[in-house]
Amino acid sequence: MKFSKFGQKFTQPTGISQLMDDLGDALKSDQPVNMLGGGNPARIEAVNELFLETYQALGNDGSFREDINSTATSSMANYSNPQGDAAFIDALVGFFNRHYDWNLTSENIALTNGSQNAFFYLFNLFGGAFTDKKNQSIDKSILLPLTPEYIGYSDVHVEGQHFTAVLPHIDEVTHDGEEGFFKYRVDFDALENLPALTEGRIGAICCSRPTNPTGNVLTDEEMAHLAEIAKRYDVPLIIDNAYGMPFPNIIYSDVTLNWDDNTILCFSLSKIGLPGVRTGIIVAAPEVIAAVSAMNAVVNLSPTRFGASIATPLVENNAIKDLSDNDIKPFYQQQAKTAVTLLKKELGDYPLVIHKPEGAIFLWLWFKDLPISTSELYETLKEKGTLIVPSEYFFPGVDISDYKHAHECIRMSIAADKDTLTKGIAVIGEVVRELYDGAK
Ligand SMILES: Cc1ncc(COP(=O)(O)O)c(C=O)c1O
Repeated sequence: MKFSKFGQKFTQPTGISQLMDDLGDALKSDQPVNMLGGGNPARIEAVNELFLETYQALGNDGSFREDINSTATSSMANYSNPQGDAAFIDALVGFFNRHYDWNLTSENIALTNGSQNAFFYLFNLFGGAFTDKKNQSIDKSILLPLTPEYIGYSDVHVEGQHFTAVLPHIDEVTHDGEEGFFKYRVDFDALENLPALTEGRIGAICCSRPTNPTGNVLTDEEMAHLAEIAKRYDVPLIIDNAYGMPFPNIIYSDVTLNWDDNTILCFSLSKIGLPGVRTGIIVAAPEVIAAVSAMNAVVNLSPTRFGASIATPLVENNAIKDLSDNDIKPFYQQQAKTAVTLLKKELGDYPLVIHKPEGAIFLWLWFKDLPISTSELYETLKEKGTLIVPSEYFFPGVDISDYKHAHECIRMSIAADKDTLTKGIAVIGEVVRELYDGAK
């Protein structure tokens, strides 16, 4: 069968499709696997209980069934309009205005089928072919101010890849008074001098905060500087808040979250524990919300209402925030501590440095001068039943052939249970020690 160029773009092997296949196969395999590779959230008892209670209540409150004796419509038996479930949007408006000084209205929020769906829309809205004032065609890209960045951005453009990316400053830092950590910072000198930026070939700026894969949290100063640059060049600043505040709030550094009408904030229900309901939330200026709604109409008719129905009461009564603050965040903070302790035990005498854990559900490990690339390390670890993700996938828009650092890191999920974490880190320790010892 012959596929169009559009079809070929999506059917050729992409970083994310290969990875998702590998991780999916591993989960189906009958061999035990230490799954430190995926982006699945952890199983947390308090989270499971709250969602179960909420599902059960939904079953009883008419959400699934049209009552022929009532004029009220059930959410599951009807499409919403393309912007998304109105009751959930209203609940979100109230919630954000209670917690932040944003003065949102329902015109500021649209729902998508997961935030991955939102990035597909936004990167194609703001990246790709444009017509300039002189009616000339101009190609604009999405500026990633700090790579490594989320693997899922890489292949979402309908045509080609439209990224301009900046490599980080690497600062060696201490964490909880201990040596052996580093932190990425935005290289604003490089960013401000990018010809694509100064010559008008950037359509939007985007960063994930906390960052997948590194667990970095851009500081408030960095965010304010990015917001100022975005305004100066009249492009939106897209903040991927999949792990951020106020939910799931997997963020340990003391920072704030800001929004204005030049900012596009993307939230998700996935990392609070509901990746299967595929619900993303966009907070933006009405013009952006209208565009997203129009795209929803064509691509989905209307976004899924299942996640919206589950989350509406939890947003109305703040349970989503309480759960995030009291259960989700402390859980991952403890997991990060446990993983760091295990890694130091295994590889304390070797050139391992860890990105300061500031949030998200990953640790980012840098094996300085590792004798092989981490893609090769991935294969060896996979043979030994341990899955991680090698770093080279996380540099969309960068030619990493001469950038050694991009071949020396791995992303390790900390969402697994303690037993899996311990076994997986023991395998990483054994393999990496052998590699360094063999090179002496
Ligand atoms: C940083 C980041 N953004 C967006 C997504 C997409 O999440 P979802 O489509 O499940 O909302 C993920 C998923 O892992 C992520 O890590």
